[in-house]
Amino acid sequence: MDLFHSGQVVKICAPMVRYSKLAFRTLVRKYSCDLCYTPMIVAADFVRSAKARDSEFTTNKGDHPLIVQFAAKEAQVLCDAARIICPFADGIDLNCGCPQRIHEDLRRTVDLCQKAEAAGVSWITVHGRSIEERHQPVHYDAIKIIKQSMSIPIVANGDIKSLKDAENVHHLTEADGVMVARGLLANPAMFAGYEETPFQCIQDWVDIALEHGTPFTCFHHHLMYMMERITSKQEKKVFNVLSSTSAVLDYLNDHYGLG
Ligand SMILES: Cc1cc2nc3c(=O)[nH]c(=O)nc-3n(C[C@H](O)[C@H](O)[C@H](O)COP(=O)(O)O)c2cc1C
Repeated sequence: MDLFHSGQVVKICAPMVRYSKLAFRTLVRKYSCDLCYTPMIVAADFVRSAKARDSEFTTNKGDHPLIVQFAAKEAQVLCDAARIICPFADGIDLNCGCPQRIHEDLRRTVDLCQKAEAAGVSWITVHGRSIEERHQPVHYDAIKIIKQSMSIPIVANGDIKSLKDAENVHHLTEADGVMVARGLLANPAMFAGYEETPFQCIQDWVDIALEHGTPFTCFHHHLMYMMERITSKQEKKVFNVLSSTSAVLDYLNDHYGLG
């Protein structure tokens, strides 16, 4: 993909089950995200069922560049899913997540990445933790070693919460791209340099989500993430138990003049 040859670090919205759907992708693209991933889709279900395809994947003309992430145990099933999605996506990603994060013995990770490169993958994203690690610091040094051992682009992932973090991780790892999950949930405008979610971004989410007919739970959960830092405990107690779109819109209007 040309994106990786621009010389700039590529800013990527991570695959997130339930969250990185079309409406959210539309929002983050508005705020300087260069490339989006769909949530993980089980390839076997996708191939087998039209219903699964309709419920798991929606897109539109503006939804590019787009990578569709699949989970698959068999190459043929992944291949079949790729054929179906091909007209709508710019690439596919195979979720190798747990338990293939970085290995304690880094040579094994480098070996796995080199095998993937030899098999023809275009780039690899590395989350810099081992399977046992949850909240420990991300091993950016390990991502750097992987990057130095490969010819294809490498994307660094883990604990990037601001544009400054993204630049720092790019500097530490020399990775070609940075992928962010929780940081974008909390602040979908982070790639545009905002330290906290601006009100305009919340308003944009409301507009985009309503336009896309986003189910209430998804609409509400995204707002909870985005407003986490700007709402007090007391406000959360009220906001987080709201149970309809109209109640949420009333709340946003009453408290922030939004909605
Ligand atoms: C709500 C949520 C859903 C996720 N779903 C997926 C997924 O579908 N596929 C995947 O490979 N990783 C998934 N992840 C992992 C993220 O893509 C990412 O690797 C991880 O959260 C670490 O990045 P972060 O520190 O920026 O959050 C998910 C993470 C979160 C928080």
